[in-house]
Amino acid sequence: MEFLTIDTWPPASLTDYRPQLETGNVLYFPTTPFSFPAESQDFLRSLDFAGKAIHKNIAYRPASDRVTGFEGTPEQQQHLLAVMRDYSRTVIAFTASLLPEYAAAWKLDYASFRPLEESSRDLPVNKRNDLLHTDAFPSRPTHGDLILRVFTNIHPSKTRNWITTDPFPALAEKYARAAGLDRIAANTWSEPAARVLHSIGLPVVPRSPYDRFMLHFHEYLKRNTDFQQNCPKYRFDFPPGSTWLTFTDVLPHSVHSGQHALEQTFIISKSSLSRAENAPVRILERLYGKPLVAA
Ligand SMILES: [Fe+2]
Repeated sequence: MEFLTIDTWPPASLTDYRPQLETGNVLYFPTTPFSFPAESQDFLRSLDFAGKAIHKNIAYRPASDRVTGFEGTPEQQQHLLAVMRDYSRTVIAFTASLLPEYAAAWKLDYASFRPLEESSRDLPVNKRNDLLHTDAFPSRPTHGDLILRVFTNIHPSKTRNWITTDPFPALAEKYARAAGLDRIAANTWSEPAARVLHSIGLPVVPRSPYDRFMLHFHEYLKRNTDFQQNCPKYRFDFPPGSTWLTFTDVLPHSVHSGQHALEQTFIISKSSLSRAENAPVRILERLYGKPLVAA
């Protein structure tokens, strides 16, 4: 895997970065390529999270224009909503100019602010960020689409320290069967059953075999001590004021330390990939020999 540095933005001519992202590389901007006011950054860093450790992140939901994960005064809540909305809209506009082919068919997911120091958090294994993992969202199955995330380090002095390993194709080759791909994919009743329960209003998420596997794989990797200890590791410390983006379901990653990161997530349609065969769902389908999502 590679980190591709982009020093100037906007560029003199546009490059199609999709092949780089789809193979698990990171696009890295040493200087954040969009504007986000210093006052907004100060406001986010000033919010007091003492005693509110139950909230992992503050989330902004573009579709419903609301913020969750912070309980402050009504004034703070209003200001936070305005700041997160502004951040989200700005980063969406930037990402659309960087990756117009994806923007034509993407789905906007949440933006988040990560207020806590990563090195001192006490979380259950499946929520720990310091263990290498690929992303999968329990409440938002992608049905084979990809998870693109844009991160910005807004800490005034601390780097955000990532470790990554070889991207999904190598990982799937080595671990997908051991993780239970065949067993999970062979279960053909749980998705239709969940659809019925969902249709009558029960809080059940219908998941394709692909989504069930990816959710399971996230936890399998975190609990696999041999993988965690012995896989090849690539370290990158993202400086304050930098921005980077990657497919977090293609590139396994972990965060060891750092505080005050902003992030916007996009669900990228597999139909807009430069090479559809790179998608994790296609890699797993080749291994399994049958479709893992509905056509
Ligand atoms: Fe992650």
